[in-house]
Amino acid sequence: MKKVSVVILGLGSRGLHAYADCVRQFPDKMEIAAVADIRPEMVELAKKLYGIPPERCFTSGEELLSCGKLGDAAFICTQDRQHFAHASKALEVGYDLLLEKPISPDPEECRRLVELAERLNRRVSVCHVLRYTPFYGELKRLLDVGAVGDVVSVQHIENVIYWHQAHSFVRGNWRNSAETSPMILQKCCHDMDLLVWLLGERAVKVSSFGGLHEFRPEMAPEGSGERCAECAVRDGCPFDAEKIYLTNKGTGVLAGNTGWPVDVLTPEPDEKSVRRAIGTGPYGRCVYRCDNDVVDHQVVNIEFEGGATAQLTMCAFTKRGGRDTVIMGTRGQIIANLNEQTIHVMPYDGDNYDVDIRKLASDLRGHSGGDTRLVEEFLELVAGDAKESVRTTTLAASAESHYIAFAAERSRLEGGRTVDMREFRE
Ligand SMILES: NC(=O)c1ccc[n+]([C@@H]2O[C@H](COP(=O)([O-])OP(=O)(O)OC[C@H]3O[C@@H](n4cnc5c(N)ncnc54)[C@H](O)[C@@H]3O)[C@@H](O)[C@H]2O)c1
Repeated sequence: MKKVSVVILGLGSRGLHAYADCVRQFPDKMEIAAVADIRPEMVELAKKLYGIPPERCFTSGEELLSCGKLGDAAFICTQDRQHFAHASKALEVGYDLLLEKPISPDPEECRRLVELAERLNRRVSVCHVLRYTPFYGELKRLLDVGAVGDVVSVQHIENVIYWHQAHSFVRGNWRNSAETSPMILQKCCHDMDLLVWLLGERAVKVSSFGGLHEFRPEMAPEGSGERCAECAVRDGCPFDAEKIYLTNKGTGVLAGNTGWPVDVLTPEPDEKSVRRAIGTGPYGRCVYRCDNDVVDHQVVNIEFEGGATAQLTMCAFTKRGGRDTVIMGTRGQIIANLNEQTIHVMPYDGDNYDVDIRKLASDLRGHSGGDTRLVEEFLELVAGDAKESVRTTTLAASAESHYIAFAAERSRLEGGRTVDMREFRE
């Protein structure tokens, strides 16, 4: 296969840690032609980790894109509200794109980008990584072979996890919808995409309720301080920054974790750098006194073209992560648990059986194995070695998921009004 050379805009959790690293996994398929970030320390880290020559390191995506075409494809991994400008310019320069979600928090920009990519005939894959997981691949296969007949209804839960909510949606990058995206788009465009993909139909109507229950000043415990370091009641608080970033068995640096989420606080995490970050930076703020406004729970009802219905619950208040999906069909029922990697199939006219995904696939790192499979497929598509498959997340397919999220947010803000999807598609 022809090696695909990529330029990476944005060297944060996704650009550097999830995607640049694929060069080690697929050394015959990918090479890094250039990188850009406005944070010099991230550019330095990329240079050190992947040996990028200094003349191929840029101080912003804008600067990189102003140099003409430096590779075959661009990975757009900047923040939500930058995607449209970076992606449009990159398409015009001549790149195919691996584009982080959301395409844009603005429906009009989503439409314009779809049109631009079609007009210029460029390939764009949007990073709906879950489609590329062995877990959802198997679920899709089961539905396509009719394991439960026609799907009539789906119940889908996105378990955010209490500390993930505090990290990303209260203290972190996605806390404020005006600065980034509404949470139902940011977190659940993946879920909307899965529902459309699994059912093979577009949505026609959407309604939604939700709000911010916990993370606001009125809910602050008596005696709590502005920052965890000065809080008198931190022992009883599960959102205490020291617990999340130092001592938690899964996420804390003292328990051996140097990856996400601690690598968001500091590029090279150890006890000292993490303590410094939570002592002075945004991730040490009291969760009841941040400038956050995104929801911590939301439900969405969806009606599809063929009459099937789906109900999505996104909630911060869970201890475990992953998604739970119950699929109710005319010939059977499925209970699928992403966290456990198990799919329990219950045909009405036969014996129940379990599919254990861990027995089907070995590498389930990085979004249950979705990250690397997404990149590998994209590289093969750009190299011309593969054709689009049933799971390819084209820009147009991804836009559908975004329109549902936009409709859900409009409904929520308008008291649960039923929104006709034509309001967004046309
Ligand atoms: N597909 C998924 O499952 C998934 C998961 C998490 C995040 N995301 C998305 O990926 C995107 C990036 O998220 P992240 O967690 O990596 O965030 P991040 O903040 O860690 O990384 C973004 C990087 O962009 C850099 N940047 C800002 N302005 C720039 C500019 N003008 N030019 C070049 N670089 C610039 C920042 O300095 C930062 O390093 C977000 O839009 C997010 O929604 C997707």
